[in-house]
Amino acid sequence: MTGARKRVGVLISGRGSNLQALLDASVDPQFPAEIALVISNRAGAYGLERARAAGVATTTISHKDYPDRDSFDGAIDAALRGAGCEIVCLAGFMRIFTPGFVNRWPNRILNIHPSLLPSFTGLHVQRRAIEAGATIAGCTVHIVTPDLDSGPILAQAAVPVLPDDTEDSLSARILEQEHRLYPAALAWLAEGRVRIDGNRALVNGASASGVLLSPCP
Ligand code: GRF
Repeated sequence: MTGARKRVGVLISGRGSNLQALLDASVDPQFPAEIALVISNRAGAYGLERARAAGVATTTISHKDYPDRDSFDGAIDAALRGAGCEIVCLAGFMRIFTPGFVNRWPNRILNIHPSLLPSFTGLHVQRRAIEAGATIAGCTVHIVTPDLDSGPILAQAAVPVLPDDTEDSLSARILEQEHRLYPAALAWLAEGRVRIDGNRALVNGASASGVLLSPCP
């Protein structure tokens, strides 16, 4: 690749398997982004260990140490800017940002969500997909806007919902696709291929125009 790799801050709250996928992708010097900092709001998050093992700087910023969301978001913002981050990836980060924070990072925050948005926003989406009788589920990488799970969609991957699926089995099938999708979408953003038109993200020159389909079982 030509030019400097984009510096990325990854925000987590838990096990960090998507963080691991981003760390693994960025080992390749041709990958257009490098993980500069991992921030967790929970001190015991396993993802922090993954980051340390990869030699990436970590910090814990607990929402419990701040009187309100503005000051918590301000601390996150300061840490990201202090590390020179240009892009923020949410990877299982279980806090909702204030509009003020989101607006300070316009079209620069990505999130991965385990449903085919705009269906199934919010929590427990794999279980809700099964209960709703959906036959196709999947995951979405989108730009974060002040409205929860509603920003422009960069990339999606679909998987089947099988008749005997449990929440766990479907979550595992989706997670496998999350780990393919997130590095691909981050690369597109870091390479400057993404153009936002209203609530649509147009990805120029990306393979398969932002859609990844998993093989059927
Ligand atoms: C993933 O399912 C992701 O889509 C959702 O939270 C989960 C995080 O998992 N936002 P992990 O911590 O990356 O393993």
